[in-house]
Amino acid sequence: MSTNSTALQSSAVINEAVQTLHDGGLVAFPTETVYGLGADARNPAAIQKIFTAKGRPPNHPLIVHLAAPEKYDVTQIDWAALVSPWVRDLSEDALRMINAFWPGPLTLVFKRDKSVLNEITGGQDTIAIRAPAHPMAQELLRKFKGGVVAPSANRFGKVSPTSAADVRSEFEGMLDLMILDGGDCEVGIESTIIDLSSGNHALLLRPGAITPSDILAKTGIKVYKPGEDKYSHDEAITPRVSGSLKAHYAPTTPLRLYAPGRVLDALSEFPDIKSRVAVGVWDSDSSLSEDGHPSVHFEEVTMPSDSRTFASRLYRSLRDLDEQGWDLILFPEPPAGEEWDGVRDRLQRACFGSGPSSSSHASN
Ligand code: TXA
Ligand code: MG
Repeated sequence: MSTNSTALQSSAVINEAVQTLHDGGLVAFPTETVYGLGADARNPAAIQKIFTAKGRPPNHPLIVHLAAPEKYDVTQIDWAALVSPWVRDLSEDALRMINAFWPGPLTLVFKRDKSVLNEITGGQDTIAIRAPAHPMAQELLRKFKGGVVAPSANRFGKVSPTSAADVRSEFEGMLDLMILDGGDCEVGIESTIIDLSSGNHALLLRPGAITPSDILAKTGIKVYKPGEDKYSHDEAITPRVSGSLKAHYAPTTPLRLYAPGRVLDALSEFPDIKSRVAVGVWDSDSSLSEDGHPSVHFEEVTMPSDSRTFASRLYRSLRDLDEQGWDLILFPEPPAGEEWDGVRDRLQRACFGSGPSSSSHASN
């Protein structure tokens, strides 16, 4: 098949997806972070289907995805006009962040316009928006000519999908879902979320590929992190970020992190010693150089020591390892440093929710 006919074919598939969205159906589509499960953001019945398909509690708000009309020069895009139907008061700071990072893996939370459906926001006064960079997502959104709400295309509490096949396996046998195949996701973990809705301080709600330092460097805007002086939010009251539940992104095989050189310590939590243990080892280390353990068979799995590469493969390796029938999976603790915050956050939650009973944790 020539490149040209491939392009034509995918265009026809995208047109069908646009029609499905207009008809109130769901479409799974690729973004550069993870695959999303999309619905028309102005159609309450369609949005309801997302919550049913995912098994997601109704008070967990969704992100609206937008795309700018095709432009040769990204600096010419009028983002303010694009977000205005959704957002009340777009601040100077917000516009600077948008101009610096959209399209890209950055979600911003604003005070919402009154026309925004309660089904999206869980009744909150704010709205989360992002403009994905993936060309197929952009083509879909452009042709649809409207906002598409899309959570990650996984069942609630499970590992987010980074390929079309992952999405298929999440909903196999329960939902006949249209899935656009845009290959493997480049970023591999969900977008960074920054809350701008207070009008005072920018707050980091979910770490991702774009870090507070990246934002400071490109815009001069300081983003506050949990635990920092000006940071406060009421997540204990409302789960504004569902990924902020302690257990999330969880495999069914028990998963733990080990400190450098302390693989055996990590095993002490499992006294009825597991016989088949997969151990992640940094590609920069030659091997575990463990003394070994009489009844445990360790198998080493190499992990990228570059944070971006690690993130791009994180969910892929969790899914693959989960299917290989290990008794226990051990990952090396990510090193200190902001560029690892996104990965560290997802891994800690995955550990907490992991194991055969993960669904009971995840629905807490
Ligand atoms: O990378 C991503 O953001 C992916 C792709 C598909 O775009 N989407 C994604 O959606 O991760 P989801 O639903 O799995 O996570 C979105 C997060 C949720 O944790 C939700 O609570 C938070 O965004 N969120 C949505 N609206 C919000 C709001 N108004 N205020 C605070 N958090 C919000
Ligand atoms: Mg999700």
